[in-house]
Amino acid sequence: MALLDIINLRTHFLTQDGLVKAVDTVDLTIAEGERLGLIGETGCGKTVLGMSIVRLLQPNTSIKGRIEYKGRDILKMKEAEMRRLRGREIAMILQNPTTSLNPVLKIGDQIAEAMQLHQGLDRREASRKAIEMLRSVHLPDAAANACQYPHELSGGMRERVMIALGLACNPEFIIADEPTKGLDIKTKIQIIELLREATHHKAMLMITHDLGVAGSICNKIAVMYAGELLEVAPSPNILNGPSHPYTQGFINSLPSRGLLPIPGTSPSLICPPSGCRFHPRCRMATKTCETKHPEMVQMEKGHFVRCLQFN
Ligand SMILES: Nc1ncnc2c1ncn2[C@@H]1O[C@H](COP(=O)(O)OP(=O)(O)OP(=O)(O)O)[C@@H](O)[C@H]1O
Ligand SMILES: [Mg+2]
Repeated sequence: MALLDIINLRTHFLTQDGLVKAVDTVDLTIAEGERLGLIGETGCGKTVLGMSIVRLLQPNTSIKGRIEYKGRDILKMKEAEMRRLRGREIAMILQNPTTSLNPVLKIGDQIAEAMQLHQGLDRREASRKAIEMLRSVHLPDAAANACQYPHELSGGMRERVMIALGLACNPEFIIADEPTKGLDIKTKIQIIELLREATHHKAMLMITHDLGVAGSICNKIAVMYAGELLEVAPSPNILNGPSHPYTQGFINSLPSRGLLPIPGTSPSLICPPSGCRFHPRCRMATKTCETKHPEMVQMEKGHFVRCLQFN
């Protein structure tokens, strides 16, 4: 059964330059226990998609469509209900631990505060559990680390704190936004291992630039480009037999596959290209791609592609 069902989601921002269509007609399903990796170049709308699910967006946002969590539309929930959902069911591990953690609060107190608020624990119990959480994310000396401020920790340790904070209320669904960004390779592997272990049997949306990270932890991968999804498939299909020219290009641009960049730059989200949004950069583009917008079609079970070659 689908835990999360996103239907025709459009998250747009009203700006002085025009309407930024950061998420444009996205359909996506995440089943219970499924881990979905969301990949794509910088600025394609990954974080905005994640933030739309938890409704943490700026006042200049227009959000339309449906986001059904356990059959109920998140976009119709009242703010109080939404706060409960964020605290108890859906956790968002934010993209930047340096700005997401409160710099003037000890990390143990930040986790304890969340537990007091959402689980109704008293202060002592919450503080004890906060240390337990820090231990569970393998901080070297959880009790001592709990008394430290964010700036006293390394990048890898801060990311562990973010994960502890996200998992503190035992959520059913976790959105992790670039949890390994900026970390050295050894720490990155440790964080992935930690996420895998800590989210066992839970559903997860893992936002990342890093296909290697997505492939190692997710069973399904969605490829986003200029606000749209271009390909969604089981991870092995994406890694070994991607169908969309953009996904193929994205894979060839990885250091492990030859570092061949996709020519051109990401398009404007205010005036995206006509037809297929990827056509100006696509080596397979034909005249029709300039005018006809491709539909998402199913190639085989669970493997969807938006490309006119297959329409
Ligand atoms: N409140 C806002 N007002 C206007 N534009 C916004 C707003 N928030 C985000 N955007 C724009 O939406 C687009 C998508 O941003 P988003 O942060 O989702 O990209 P991303 O795929 O997460 O990129 P990265 O990989 O660099 O994190 C960007 O062009 C961004 O500038
Ligand atoms: Mg982002």
